[in-house]
Amino acid sequence: MESKWLICLLLISGFSTYCYASKSMRMRLSTEQNMEDLLTRRNLLSNGLGSTPPMGWNSWNHFACNIDEKTIKETADSLVSTGLFKLGYIYVNIDDCWAESSRDDKGNLVPKKSTFPSGIKALADYVHSKGLKLGIYSDAGYYTCSKKQPGSLGHEEQDAKTFASWGIDYLKYDNCNNDFSKPTQRYPVMTRALMNAGRPIFFSLCEWGDLHPALWGYNVGNSWRTTNDISDNWDSMVSRADQNEVYADLARPAGWNDPDMLEVGNGGMKKDEYIVHFSIWAISKAPLLIGCDVRNTTKEVMEIIANKEVLSVNQDKLGVQAKKVRMEGDLEVWAGPLSNYRVAIVLLNRGSWPTSMIAHWDDIGLPPNTAVTARDLWEHKTLKTKFVGNLTATVDSHACKMYILKPVS
Ligand SMILES: *[C@@H]1O[C@H](CO)[C@@H](O)[C@H](O)[C@H]1NC(C)=O
Ligand SMILES: *[C@@H]1O[C@H](CO)[C@@H](O)[C@H](O)[C@H]1NC(C)=O
Repeated sequence: MESKWLICLLLISGFSTYCYASKSMRMRLSTEQNMEDLLTRRNLLSNGLGSTPPMGWNSWNHFACNIDEKTIKETADSLVSTGLFKLGYIYVNIDDCWAESSRDDKGNLVPKKSTFPSGIKALADYVHSKGLKLGIYSDAGYYTCSKKQPGSLGHEEQDAKTFASWGIDYLKYDNCNNDFSKPTQRYPVMTRALMNAGRPIFFSLCEWGDLHPALWGYNVGNSWRTTNDISDNWDSMVSRADQNEVYADLARPAGWNDPDMLEVGNGGMKKDEYIVHFSIWAISKAPLLIGCDVRNTTKEVMEIIANKEVLSVNQDKLGVQAKKVRMEGDLEVWAGPLSNYRVAIVLLNRGSWPTSMIAHWDDIGLPPNTAVTARDLWEHKTLKTKFVGNLTATVDSHACKMYILKPVS
């Protein structure tokens, strides 16, 4: 007779339960309420999305509330014509201010007639016709942050069904104007509603890191903000990188830490500073959501956001977020493993002067005698020397070097 057994692991860090049961046990348990759920469910949100960090565009950082369907369509066109779509930027995400200030008489959210006269379904059809995906925005409160449209609190099921019926692929869910209950009470309600809506929708939690969402987010969303909103300046950008780094161990495929969207191309930082921004976001396995006007980018901006080699670090299938492995004043070494025994590193100089920096193998997780080739991801060059034990480079002020180190056999 086949034995009956059930093993459950409760991973405290993510409040996730993993269970394994013998076949006869599964048959017995499936008759018991909720147990089937326990066995088949890895988390509340098993939508199959986000095996690598999401890439795309979002309207907020450049346009704030000044959005309309023409801008969104032209952005979709530009993502294709610039080649960004081919590089993996597939989400076109509408942020706040897309809806009328009140629901219709059936309680449905209504696209704003003056700016989205064709409706969101038509926009989704347009975006899908290009191979892109459409994202939308709501809020786990009574109003969104702009207060120009209703939030989804108390309307989760209805709104999730509306979004699914329109063909929405991604939901950013903000935290303004709520009822003061904890995010852990409000966000899972939308998770369940999305799971019931009949369409896989990437769920981006935006409770700004208030309640350490890295500790519970994996059960609830595909990504979670770890910080308040970013602004287009150096101090804001590096402080978000710092706050996000603390939770590195809790990120994993289908559940990513999110230090907020990109400011590259919005004009508030120097080129080297934007390269730092993009390098740190990429190595941190952050969602890469472009926040500038892609209809009107410079060559300089394209060289940053379309850097294939840096994108390959972000999208590496191992999905391990890099950490600071050495900090000496303004000098930081960030490192994280990649597939095939490779290592990605960023040498970051936050200080005011060009400085020589060193990455030691014992800091970055390479065995001491390993010889590697070093690919410079911003110079697009493989360095001639093979390195053993360490790698040294001079790094300019508010700038970085980024490499992939690959062991030579
Ligand atoms: C395009 O970008 C430049 C700066 O790069 C700016 O001066 C100009 O106003 C922008 N044009 C539009 C139509 O937004
Ligand atoms: C760096 O590695 C080289 C050998 O590859 C060694 O000679 C040198 O002392 C090392 N430098 C430091 C600062 O560890």
